[in-house]
Amino acid sequence: MKQVRLPSGETVPALGMGTWMIGENRSSRAEEIATLQRGIDLGMTLIDTAEMYGEGASEQLVGEAIKGRRDEVFLVGKVYPHNASRKGMAAACERSLKRLGVDCLDLYLLHWRGSVPLDETIEGFETLQAQGKIRHWGVSNLDPADMAELVDQAGGERVAVNQVLYNLSRRGIEWDLQPWCVEQGIPLMAYSPIEQARLLRHPGLRTLAGKNGAAPAQLALAWLLNRDQLIAIPKASTRAHLEENFAALQCPLNAETIAELDRLFPPPRRATPLEML
Ligand SMILES: NC(=O)c1ccc[n+]([C@@H]2O[C@H](COP(=O)([O-])OP(=O)(O)OC[C@H]3O[C@@H](n4cnc5c(N)ncnc54)[C@H](OP(=O)(O)O)[C@@H]3O)[C@@H](O)[C@H]2O)c1
Repeated sequence: MKQVRLPSGETVPALGMGTWMIGENRSSRAEEIATLQRGIDLGMTLIDTAEMYGEGASEQLVGEAIKGRRDEVFLVGKVYPHNASRKGMAAACERSLKRLGVDCLDLYLLHWRGSVPLDETIEGFETLQAQGKIRHWGVSNLDPADMAELVDQAGGERVAVNQVLYNLSRRGIEWDLQPWCVEQGIPLMAYSPIEQARLLRHPGLRTLAGKNGAAPAQLALAWLLNRDQLIAIPKASTRAHLEENFAALQCPLNAETIAELDRLFPPPRRATPLEML
């Protein structure tokens, strides 16, 4: 498994698992749990969840999937912006830990920027860290101006990651946010890496994937995994999808394929506002 180094020096898998919209349907529950467990077996041990996902349903399902295997996984949780105050965050984190059935989150992210001042959110994170409830903290959906403001706050330089929308069809961050994060040594986490499956219908991607003997999802993920200091977190609710995605790690990308992907999905030519889903 390719690894990405966090600013603390700890490494995490470059290919993890998303869990948005998992745990919301009784009939698919057993397969979703089996899928997460298969992912752990394969080394995709970074699991991304959030209190928002199914209002706790995703955390509960993740808790069930990792029962007895806590030490094998790197658990990422997210706090709602309206809970990201000193008091609100302590209570939100406690609820998430309970639903997950764990004592500590490996990484706790601010889901997106809201009205709570960043310095108060940092203080909340650092208090939880001192109490041993979270090991690292980070942010999500913060644009370059937000990031500059964040690292300017006391303790803000300890941000571990920024999780943002990034895939072949959403390359805006390559203009400014990505180079800035590389320079600062802050890894990016790419969410919706296959654009919630919409990318897979792109005729050009389908043809190119076919030429490479790969599935469209594999090619889209291989393109992301080819980047340094980037973690991709595709969500799969079946073992068949998960295994197809895992095989992206073995999908070779030659210069010709990369050039063709740049033609089909051109890189940005100017700064654009950070996109969100
Ligand atoms: N921080 C944020 O604001 C934010 C926002 C969005 C997402 N996220 C995180 O990022 C994760 C991933 O993003 P996402 O769930 O939005 O979208 P995604 O991972 O780009 O796409 C998920 C969709 O693709 C399908 N899929 C997965 N593998 C496939 C394959 N090999 N072939 C065909 N279809 C496949 C899934 O179907 P099945 O479910 O049927 O397998 C699902 O419908 C989320 O689950 C969440 O953890 C974070």
